[in-house]
Amino acid sequence: MSPSIVNAHPTYKIASIPADGIGPEVIDAGVAVLKKLASTLRTFDLEFENFDWSSDRYKQTGKYLPDDALATLKKFDAILFGAVGAPNVPDHISLWGLRLAICQPLQQYANVRPTKVFRGTKSPLANCKQGDLDWVIIRENSEGEYAGHGGRSHQGKPWETATEVSIFTKHGVERIMRFAFETAAKRPRKQITVVTKSNAQRNGMVLWDEVAAAVAKDFPEVTCDKMLVDAMTTRMVLKPESLDTIVATNLHADILSDLAAALAGSIGIAPTSNLDPTRENPSMFEPIHGSAFDITGMGIANPIATFWTAVEMLKWLGEDKAGDLLLDIVETVCEKGIMTKDLGGTSTTAQVTDAVCAEIERRSGK
Ligand code: NAI
Ligand code: MG
Repeated sequence: MSPSIVNAHPTYKIASIPADGIGPEVIDAGVAVLKKLASTLRTFDLEFENFDWSSDRYKQTGKYLPDDALATLKKFDAILFGAVGAPNVPDHISLWGLRLAICQPLQQYANVRPTKVFRGTKSPLANCKQGDLDWVIIRENSEGEYAGHGGRSHQGKPWETATEVSIFTKHGVERIMRFAFETAAKRPRKQITVVTKSNAQRNGMVLWDEVAAAVAKDFPEVTCDKMLVDAMTTRMVLKPESLDTIVATNLHADILSDLAAALAGSIGIAPTSNLDPTRENPSMFEPIHGSAFDITGMGIANPIATFWTAVEMLKWLGEDKAGDLLLDIVETVCEKGIMTKDLGGTSTTAQVTDAVCAEIERRSGK
């Protein structure tokens, strides 16, 4: 979908799917901040439509998504997603029923996860200064261990068997490598680390390495190195400043990006974009955290991951200036010490949201 132009500025249609746990709390905060930004800047408009696709709906109807869900979503410019997962639904049912049921058919094959230490916040790493940790992790988002290949047989028997087959196709690996190298080339350091496990996994991961090496030849300006995933965890902790862009498989990047978020201060700040780089389908934007049952309804969920998610969504839609402004505003609010508990502060979700909205107004001189 290309945005409609009304009154000489574009209007973007956003489908919001808050889903479960703290999802509705942080999506409400994100929508409030985005609406404030749009009404203050007046250079673009946002139209939101909310969808109640969640574990509650699944428990009532047996389905997360209505049959026409994908056709409905294709009418939007972007999707803003909360988190899925409920205590009384197995995680593989909820993840495959909602999130993967959207990402996979919409070919959102590139999952982008930036992480950095915000102004006013501290990394739990004693020597890590703001600026030392500023990474973007590119996660392959369509195959690997999450391709859905495998099965179970002889269920209930002592010889019950289950397989989870990692799928690596030349097409799938090449498109994510190109996307990752292009991302690295656009960042100031022009540096990429290819994460692998080709010492132990000698088929799929060897193809992964070979394709990475071939794609690297097309990007002579990008410095490239290769790292085994186990060694990568120690490098992230001990030498965070030595990394910039990171590309990894679906499973490896899933794990490494939670580590990255925690090293930057909290899982409550990190965003994710599920991109279809061909732009044939709408892309989906979400905080990387889950539904956080332990703090649901307490009003203390950190909304910053959703704000940064909103920033990434605006940039993908072409509103780079608005996105950069919002990220700077969020950092300013952190710098003032207005932060939730996970970042060492005492503010509530609503207080952080109000402070961001107030700073948007202050910057516009209102
Ligand atoms: P989680 O990310 O929900 O929570 C991990 C820890 O981080 C918890 O202690 C939680 O309180 C804290 N946390 C998370 N987000 C926070 C925020 N915004 N502010 C402050 N603290 C925050 O991961 P967990 O506990 O493993 O999973 C809970 C459920 O969420 C499961 O059902 C899981 O399957 C689902 N999940 C869904 C995801 C998605 O929809 N993309 C991603 C990860 C988990
Ligand atoms: Mg995860």
